[in-house]
Amino acid sequence: MQSAETRLSAGEIRERFLKFFEAKGHQRLPSASLVPSDPTVLLTLAGMLPFKPIFLGQEKPRFKRVTTAQKCIRMIDVERVGQTPRHHTFFEMLGNFSFGDYFKKEAIQFAWELLTKELKVPIPRLRIAVFEKDDEAFDLWHQDIGLPKEIIFRLGEDNNFWSAGPTGPCGPCSEIYYDTGSERGCGKPDCAPGCDCDRWLEIWNLVFIQYNRNEQGELLPLKQKGIDTGMGLERIASVLQGVADNFETDLFRPLIKQVETLAKNSGPASVRIIADHSRAITQLIADGVYPSNGGRGYVLRRLIRRAVSHGRKLGIDKPFLQGLADGVIAGLGDVYPDLKTKAAVIRQTIREEEDAFLATLEAGLKWFTELAARRTIDGGAAFKLHDTYGFPIELTVELAKEQNIPVDLAGFEREMAAQRERARQTGISDKKADLAALDLAQLNQTNFSGYEKTTDEGKVQALFPAQKLVVLDKTPFYGESGGQVGDTGLLAWDKHEVRVVNTLVSPKGVVLHELENIDGLKKDQKLKATIDAAKRAAIQAHHTATHLLHKALRETLGDHVKQAGSYVGPDKLRFDFNHFHAVKAAELEQIERLVNQKIAEKLKVEVLKKSYQEAVALGAMALFGEKYGETVRVLKIGDYSLELCGGTHVKNTADIVFFKIMSESALGSGVRRLEAVAGPAAKVHIIFQAKSLRDQVEAQLSRYRALEREQEELSGQKSLGSNIFEIEFTELERLGKCVDNHDSVNVDKFLEHLRGRVDWLQERIAKAERTIAELKTKQATAAITETDEVIYLRTLSGYSMDQLRAVADKVRGWGKATAIILVSTGARPIYLITVTDQLAQAGLTAKKLAETFNAVTGGRGGGKETKAEGGGGDPAKIEAGLTAIKQALS
Ligand code: ALA
Repeated sequence: MQSAETRLSAGEIRERFLKFFEAKGHQRLPSASLVPSDPTVLLTLAGMLPFKPIFLGQEKPRFKRVTTAQKCIRMIDVERVGQTPRHHTFFEMLGNFSFGDYFKKEAIQFAWELLTKELKVPIPRLRIAVFEKDDEAFDLWHQDIGLPKEIIFRLGEDNNFWSAGPTGPCGPCSEIYYDTGSERGCGKPDCAPGCDCDRWLEIWNLVFIQYNRNEQGELLPLKQKGIDTGMGLERIASVLQGVADNFETDLFRPLIKQVETLAKNSGPASVRIIADHSRAITQLIADGVYPSNGGRGYVLRRLIRRAVSHGRKLGIDKPFLQGLADGVIAGLGDVYPDLKTKAAVIRQTIREEEDAFLATLEAGLKWFTELAARRTIDGGAAFKLHDTYGFPIELTVELAKEQNIPVDLAGFEREMAAQRERARQTGISDKKADLAALDLAQLNQTNFSGYEKTTDEGKVQALFPAQKLVVLDKTPFYGESGGQVGDTGLLAWDKHEVRVVNTLVSPKGVVLHELENIDGLKKDQKLKATIDAAKRAAIQAHHTATHLLHKALRETLGDHVKQAGSYVGPDKLRFDFNHFHAVKAAELEQIERLVNQKIAEKLKVEVLKKSYQEAVALGAMALFGEKYGETVRVLKIGDYSLELCGGTHVKNTADIVFFKIMSESALGSGVRRLEAVAGPAAKVHIIFQAKSLRDQVEAQLSRYRALEREQEELSGQKSLGSNIFEIEFTELERLGKCVDNHDSVNVDKFLEHLRGRVDWLQERIAKAERTIAELKTKQATAAITETDEVIYLRTLSGYSMDQLRAVADKVRGWGKATAIILVSTGARPIYLITVTDQLAQAGLTAKKLAETFNAVTGGRGGGKETKAEGGGGDPAKIEAGLTAIKQALS
């Protein structure tokens, strides 16, 4: 092994690998995203994944020889991470690829040369495995390279036949193992390369791609053979750095140190798990993944929550993952620059998810401990841990496994299904779940003519009377999908006419019309299918507007904006997307302006039919996680937007007429929701909004007029300003014109103007109310004339508390009275008592006098030393109450 001085850093190893293959005529390419463009795979799990279409012959290679260091994530071994020296979620795969160029012989020669000459791995430590039937590979190692037969092992399909999944390119492979020493082995007599113990470290896998495995599992020979190799950087680093443990390499040391510094308890496995997961978490977010409850988002959420709960085990009780992400960025940022440019997003995503989980983790763990004491976790409990405390089910299972407690997974699934059912009943989930119950396997895909037509002739292919569903061979009805709601309309034959209340579509493209009444309809019946065209037009305006909105959001807020869900109906559109903050008012205005500008530009809306790869190459926005067929529809709006879409759209953006955002809100951590209206709906909505504002203005105006009259009567003066409110509402027409002209700025100005009037009138009303109160007080207290009574006691009639206070102020102003007692009679008597400081100090406090009064009248109230107020009590007992006060004062 190399001496400490000459040990290669991981960065140097990566570079040497790539340089070596560059020197052998390979083109170096950057790592592809962890989010693959291949819709059949969740995450990039090998260096060959980005080249799958090339291996399959679907795409022409730009280079025949390629070398990469590829970011990979494999979740399959997540539970072994931290328990072994060599398993990870995130890792880097170094690879060299040949697309119809060199094959086994060169691949083996290159690998041997690089390992033994360039990297100087000691030959006695190396072992080779080949596929048991692959004599050619065996001979190449034995004769060409000159290795003794004893160190070449023939292994079965499990070990030495590689494929990226159930289907796709695959072939026999040859692995190179490194012997870490018998002391690390399991000691079993048959322990040899291929044994799952820690002795035999598989460092490099050479795959001889020569088949495509189809859906039926058959191996079809490929026209062009290829080479796909993968060497784990973390593993080769452990070998070359002489540490026998990936977590001891320079890729992990700084992270391990960071966690150890934070940890209050010891827990080596937890430390390693956190170090491992922090790399995966950081890289996933850099590649645009956000925590969610499905797909990649769920992988990310699971990793974050797993890391946080291991942090808790180590006694770390504060958020800490952001700091680790910084460590990852410091270590890998030069190689993967996205880590640096996305640093802020990474930090924030982690923080929000970590905070959210920490908020429930403590309580969840406490409850888990109780469950563990009872040694049973039934489905309901597992569900509650998931639903209330945010524990991914895998986390519950893992925690339970540590204490040997079984978890009722079937019960958990039942609870989840019940929750979905509840959601469905409240209309949250889509109706597609229902389709699963129908047998549609024998049916042909429906010929959908609704891109061009609103009415068409069709023939009944199948009927589902219980569900009132009918399938035609051909139909203009769009089945609810991609956020766009299903069409409604009519089916007509002979003298019959039935309403279609909704339309659904199965994943395979069978369109199901939901009828109001299915009686009398038979198989093979020919009929005429007509959609509600006005409604469809409103839907289409919203759909095309959704695409413009998506683009405008990205332009305004940044490329991190990704669609997270949508609703496209006749009434409105809803668009959910990833973004961290509330969208600011100025940003909303800008987005709205951009969309309306594109409407005003009258852009042509076209559909291009492309292969998925072509579409992605064109730069079309594709929703990850959606499955697309071979040929995809790309919706092109002028030169502005390009997006994969199967929905129906307007022919020109001018048909959208107008676009208005109605609301912006938070949907969850990092997900925002916009609601907007477009097309005919927008105009109706705007006018409605304006009308309702106008109604407010009118109501306020009449209230203000009444106040004005009252004021005139009280003051005996005619008010001056009454005519300034004579507003003409012909503006509503002008507003309609602004809408027709896609002029969002002036529409906003107009609505703002109306809102301004509402506010302005509100102010005037408040002011008039104040003036009237003052006038009333003045009038009421005018009758109070100066006296020098020391005890000023009066029973008045119909005074408000404010007016009593005004009287008290006036009497106090004369400077004579030491006690003022005022009662106003009426349905509900009220009183006010004030005394001077001296009187209060002498023990005759206002509070005491109030108590005396209350005791007699049965009223309530009280106060402090010098002032008390109250009311209620029996009007008939007021006199007696005042007598009691007089007695107390005398
Ligand atoms: N694709 C091969 C692997 O992942 C090299 O092992």
